[in-house]
Amino acid sequence: MHSLDLGLILSIESSCDDSSIALTEIETKRLIYHKKISQDSEHTKYGGVVPEIASRLHAIALPKIVEEIKSHLSRVKAVAVTNEPGLSVTLLEGVMMAKALSLSLKVPIISINHLLGHIYSLFIEKDEIFPLSTLLVSGGHTMILEVSKDCSVEIVASSMDDSYGESFDKVAKMLNLGYPGGPYIEKMAKNGDENAIDFPLPLKNKKELAFSFSGLKNAVRLEVLKEDIDSKRVENISASFQNIATKHLLKVCEKYFKNRKIETFSIVGGASANRYLRGKFQNLCKKYEIELLLSDLEFCSDNAAMIGRAALLKYKREEFTHHSDLKANPQNTTL
Ligand code: KG4
Ligand code: ZN
Repeated sequence: MHSLDLGLILSIESSCDDSSIALTEIETKRLIYHKKISQDSEHTKYGGVVPEIASRLHAIALPKIVEEIKSHLSRVKAVAVTNEPGLSVTLLEGVMMAKALSLSLKVPIISINHLLGHIYSLFIEKDEIFPLSTLLVSGGHTMILEVSKDCSVEIVASSMDDSYGESFDKVAKMLNLGYPGGPYIEKMAKNGDENAIDFPLPLKNKKELAFSFSGLKNAVRLEVLKEDIDSKRVENISASFQNIATKHLLKVCEKYFKNRKIETFSIVGGASANRYLRGKFQNLCKKYEIELLLSDLEFCSDNAAMIGRAALLKYKREEFTHHSDLKANPQNTTL
């Protein structure tokens, strides 16, 4: 069959501050179109995402992207959309766009959980490898997840408070670096001494698998207030914070590796773009003879390509969501 005749899934992601749409070829898994309009510059002055601004910008960006792919719309066989979890007003923009497209193109809707989408970011244009254990590190979540052979997902560990990515955002805000904080902190940390400040390792004596970043965040706050901030101190605080936040992830995952026989481990989510974290986990997995899968840097943060990839299995299984049942579930983290 000529590739221009192959059916497509049109996918939409708007769970936070990225407006993204992708087209994925159903039979080949090929990503034939992917666009993401970032809102970082709009939110940076507030040091975090302002939901109402994000929602208004999605309402402008999503139709603009659809306009660009007009010529492909006749090949679309289903519309996939992130409907949970995320910010309610921004999820709604994607959900409304999905409903409008589904009605006008007369194709079904596939609703996708954002966390599941991150897992599929590993397999864009590739076959999936399940069972799989994964560390999800995003702005909203820090979790260890286990995906079974039939693609059901179990939460093995999660954060008791802030997420890893969120703690980078908050520390960057304290240091006036900008939003999202992760890339700024990573950059500053490169020139800093990671042993300059002795921040406390979270949950040091806890036996259960769990994460926590609020205590570390407060320790950074106290350090920032101690004396005037100059560029050397910004670099040292960034490096020392990144060291301890990442060490905490490594310690919890090492405990997990000791308890279960893991063959393949992966890291997904926006913060998995952090090169320091990637390097440290490469070493840890080598020590335990575990294969480590990482997403391409371009697919770590929120994007519609991973949503389209996650939708392929649901399309094959005909797991569609009726218009009247499609709702945004901002808080739902069950998978
Ligand atoms: O997955 P994502 O794009 O959105 C959510 O689902 O939350 O993740 C965004 C988070 C932000 O907190 C951002 O600061 C963090 O990922 N992040 C990083 C890096 N790049 C993005 N954190 C640490 N280091 C990075 N290089
Ligand atoms: Zn995300």
